[in-house]
Amino acid sequence: PPLDQIMNLYDFEYVANKTLEPVARNYYSSGVDDEITVRENHFAYKRIFFNPRVLIDVTECDISTNLLGHNTSAPFYVSSTAMQKYAHPEGEKVFAHGCSRENIVQMVPCLSSYPFEEISKEIKPGTPFWFQLYPSAHDGLNEEIIRKVEAAGCTGIFITVDNVYGGNREKDRRVKAIMGHLIELEKNKGSISKDDMDRLYMVSSAKSEDQEETKDDDSALGRRAVTWLTWEKMRHLKSITKMKFYLKGIQSIPDARLAVENGMDGIVLSNHGGRQAEYSKSTIEVLYDLNQAGITTQIDVFIDGGVRRGTDILKALCLGAKAVGLGRGLLYPVATYGEAGLVRAIQMLKEEMVTTMRNIGVRNLNELNEELIDTINLKSR
Ligand code: FNR
Repeated sequence: PPLDQIMNLYDFEYVANKTLEPVARNYYSSGVDDEITVRENHFAYKRIFFNPRVLIDVTECDISTNLLGHNTSAPFYVSSTAMQKYAHPEGEKVFAHGCSRENIVQMVPCLSSYPFEEISKEIKPGTPFWFQLYPSAHDGLNEEIIRKVEAAGCTGIFITVDNVYGGNREKDRRVKAIMGHLIELEKNKGSISKDDMDRLYMVSSAKSEDQEETKDDDSALGRRAVTWLTWEKMRHLKSITKMKFYLKGIQSIPDARLAVENGMDGIVLSNHGGRQAEYSKSTIEVLYDLNQAGITTQIDVFIDGGVRRGTDILKALCLGAKAVGLGRGLLYPVATYGEAGLVRAIQMLKEEMVTTMRNIGVRNLNELNEELIDTINLKSR
């Protein structure tokens, strides 16, 4: 259908499911095991209701904010997803262009399908952007990458800490088992060049001397083993950069507390979109716990997973999140309508936010608080 018939982010997903090649479709939608966490991430939001306020002049309604010291037009961002050429031949560049047009932050993935330099130069000067890193066991390589992205003007580095051991994504495995190895297939299709894949492997499979070369049994993306990451390593990486330093993939109160104690600038409550630890609680429930425990006032807390509506974003902000990341929700627009789709999806989220804010009596993001929501049904138990 033409883009103007697309009403919301679910519509993009519907079209993507009809049009994407099976490998891409399964790679995107897959969660781990029975996909319980994928579902809960999403549906937990739907158990929260608003307590709307009325008779407030909401003529002016402002959703702009400041993230990591830079102004952005809205409190949501594009979360990093590997190999965006699966979605579109221009991959990460589509996000660079679309996000620049809308002044939305793009978290550039470390496992990108274009070299970082090619992506960052497509981001309009003045638009803040972040970089997501899967640390290598080689400190030298980490430092090299961190310096490179810092020099390019990146304002925040997000270390993914939840990809300890590749999740068992069965849909993804099944289609690859049927259709042959990812690389072979992509070579045939031609959207991911051999050079890109080699580069990707270089970053993702760098091993320390004392580690065995792990077999690439599944794919470079799903089955990495990063069993050696520790808080000590985080402190070291943080110490070598001036960029804001965030941990992506915190899933519990004790770890959120440790992030504070270890001097991190922020955390992203994330379970990798339900692709890593199956039965990890929905991120919005974890946010509720963190907010209760007072942690959202001690450190920047971002959240991702299952977000498809402006209302989801507002609910997270009511519970103390500063920003909300979207993975699949913005991949599908790119996969179906390219940059136009992305821009439209971002605008839809903004429009949905403003509409709801007006109808619940809120004029700016600072006015969002727990009293505006009812969380009695949030907890699944
Ligand atoms: C991801 N995610 C991810 N995260 C990360 O830190 N590095 C990565 O390379 C990837 N790759 C990736 C690929 C795909 C296809 C998906 C769906 C997700 C996780 C991502 O950043 C984010 O945490 C989730 O996508 C959030 O959940 P939703 O919005 O997809 O439900």
